[in-house]
Order: sequence, then structure tokens, then C-alpha cells
Amino acid sequence: MGRVLLGILLGFVLFPAALLLYFQYGFPPLAVGDKPFWGEERLTQAPLHSLVPRVAPKFPPIALTEENLVAGAHVYVDQCAMCHGLHGKPAPIGSRMYPIAVPLWEHTAVEDQIGVSGDPPGETYWKIANGLRLSGMPAYQGVLTDTEIWQVSLLLANANKPLPPAALSLLHDQEAQPEPKAAKKSSPVADE
Ligand code: HEC
Repeated sequence: MGRVLLGILLGFVLFPAALLLYFQYGFPPLAVGDKPFWGEERLTQAPLHSLVPRVAPKFPPIALTEENLVAGAHVYVDQCAMCHGLHGKPAPIGSRMYPIAVPLWEHTAVEDQIGVSGDPPGETYWKIANGLRLSGMPAYQGVLTDTEIWQVSLLLANANKPLPPAALSLLHDQEAQPEPKAAKKSSPVADE
């Protein structure tokens, strides 16, 4: 009986009290570069893989057309590139977040996948529309229209497939493009 009481005291009173005191007066991880507390990574990542597939819509209400992909690229460049980067140009602030904003135009550890191309578009739609707590991922419902959210979701689901040139030219880092030859010729003051 004594043991049960001790267990109750430890489990329901002392442990939560110690936790509260730690967060109030201790040095819990607060800065992005701090070491995550035990289980923090699990806390932020587990629902992404377990909950989202259960609640996400199954079928996109818009068709996979060139027009929708190009519109999705416009949305992406305006709203997402600052955190998730462009082709060949990771976003400087993306890796300085906890959790990081995954670069959505880079190859992943899984062969032939780029960004979230391995996820069904409905799951990506859900994440963009609702945002993700305990991360810097904003909820875009009310900021973008439903169609715009689907357009960018379709784009990301097809990131590893051939995309319309008009979408690609928006998504490639313009500064990293080689200068057109004509422009070079017209500036005789070269760096050499
Ligand atoms: C202020 C920075 C920021 C902006 C702007 C932003 N995101 Fe995010 N996004 C994040 C962060 C941080 C995460 C990581 C969440 C996590 O791993 O728990 C994330 C996660 C995601 C994910 C889930 C990735 C995964 O591994 O499942 C998708 C998809 C996504 N963002 C798409 C977008 C799209 C599309 C836009 C623009 C409409 C956008 N984000 C705008 C910061 C941002």
C-alpha cells in the first residue's frame, strides 16, 4: 500500500512539479541551436507521419494540368521559397529553424524523390492548409485560396517529374543561372 501511495505521489505530484519548475526556472532549450530535450524530436515529428495520413483528403479536386502546376509555382515562389528554398538555392533561414524547414527542391535520402514528392498531394495539402504546431510552418487557410493550396500541393507531389518550363524557370534560382552570352559581350569590363 505504501509503495502505491509513493508511486502516486511521485507520478502525479512530484514529477509534474519538477517539470514545471524546470521550465520556469531552469535552462530548458529555447534557442534554435540548443540541444533538444528528451523526446522533443518525436513530439514534433510523430504526428506528421501518423496523424496526417488519417485526416488528409484523399483526392485532389483539381486536375494535374500545366496551368495548375505553373500557378502552384507562382504560389511557391511568393509564399514558401523564403523558408523552403528553390532549385539549387536552399533558404538561408530554413536550416536555422527547429525543426528545420525541409528543402523542398532537393533530393531526399530516398532515391528519385525530391522534397515531399513521395507524399500524396492530399497530405501536403493538409499540412499547408492547417500548418504544423511546434514548428514554424504557418497555416495558409485564409491566406491562400483552397485552389491555390491544391495547386502548390500538386506541384510538390510532382517535384521529381518533368515540369512545365514556365514552372521550372520560376523555381530555379535566377541568380545562379549562367549569364546570357549577349549580356556578357555587351559588358567589356570582365573580371579577369
Ligand atoms: C516561416 C517559414 C515557413 C514558410 C513560409 C513555409 N513553411 Fe513549410 N514548413 C516550415 C517548417 C519549419 C516545417 C517543418 C515542420 C516539421 O518538420 O514539423 C515545414 C513543413 C512543411 C511541409 C512538411 C514537410 C514534411 O517533411 O512532411 C510541407 C509540405 C511544407 N512545409 C510546405 C510549405 C509550403 C507549400 C509553403 C508555402 C505555401 C510553406 N511550407 C511555407 C516552415 C515554413
